Amino acid sequence: MTEAPGLEILGVSKRFHVAGGAVQALSDINLTARRGEFLALVGASGCGKSTLLRLILGLDTDYDGRILVDGQPVLRPGLDRGMVFQEHRLLPWLTVTGNVAAALRQSRLGQAEKRDLVAQHLDLVGLTRFATAYPSQLSGGMAQRVAIARALVNRPPFLLLDEPLGALDALTRLRLQDELKRIVSDGGITAVLVTHDVDEAVYLANRIAVMHPNPGRIAAILPVTDSVERDRSEPEFIRLRDTVLGLLGVREGTGRRAAADVDRRVAA
Ligand SMILES: Nc1ncnc2c1ncn2[C@@H]1O[C@H](COP(=O)(O)OP(=O)(O)OP(=O)(O)O)[C@@H](O)[C@H]1O
Ligand SMILES: [Mg+2]
Repeated sequence: MTEAPGLEILGVSKRFHVAGGAVQALSDINLTARRGEFLALVGASGCGKSTLLRLILGLDTDYDGRILVDGQPVLRPGLDRGMVFQEHRLLPWLTVTGNVAAALRQSRLGQAEKRDLVAQHLDLVGLTRFATAYPSQLSGGMAQRVAIARALVNRPPFLLLDEPLGALDALTRLRLQDELKRIVSDGGITAVLVTHDVDEAVYLANRIAVMHPNPGRIAAILPVTDSVERDRSEPEFIRLRDTVLGLLGVREGTGRRAAADVDRRVAA
């Protein structure tokens, strides 16, 4: 049986031309996600994470290399790819319901089905009581939850998430991590999650790509094997988290040790 290709990022480089020169936002990125795989991207601010998601979504096609979704080159955004942007991007003139329903505008479902789906997804993110509120009446975390409902309501096979839980309080964040994990796994969704929270990456992902800046590049790709108990207090979980933190240079002096650790894993 041949495996569905899912998402393929092949030799992608992206340069921005800015006043006074050019910024190499991405340099030779090679990354794939099998159908149903959950990939996390972590890296310092400015290393090109949002840029990469925008390219996968098809918002920008001016780059070198190739991006394929289910074997097809990405030319523009499509219903097959849902995205939660780093900033929520809700339409201020629509209610919470209206914002989520807007994502179903091109869907062929009937009105009643669409209404049910919207209600179901508002319930999922705990915002049923705010269905008729406008974005200006929501907190940052609530607005972000609306954006998550909007991205999920189409049940897209590919989900691109740019710091979707960053603005949430710790308890909501933990709850939505579990929901996200369940939705992605039940729906066989291929997910790419950008997060600054290394715990979140280890908790949710099948693989973690660590990026370095200037130019934005992949420094390491770490598998989170099934043997890693998804329990934040388990030694294997903590070890993997420390390895990622080391690769991010969060702890002085641990970066090299972490890299050696990765080499050992890859060799094994
Ligand atoms: N539209 C643009 N025009 C010019 N430069 C840009 C543009 N968008 C991004 N960049 C540059 O590309 C680099 C990567 O930016 P990007 O937003 O992808 O980083 P990021 O990893 O998402 O950072 P953060 O964690 O802060 O969100 C940065 O140097 C940024 O200044
Ligand atoms: Mg970003």
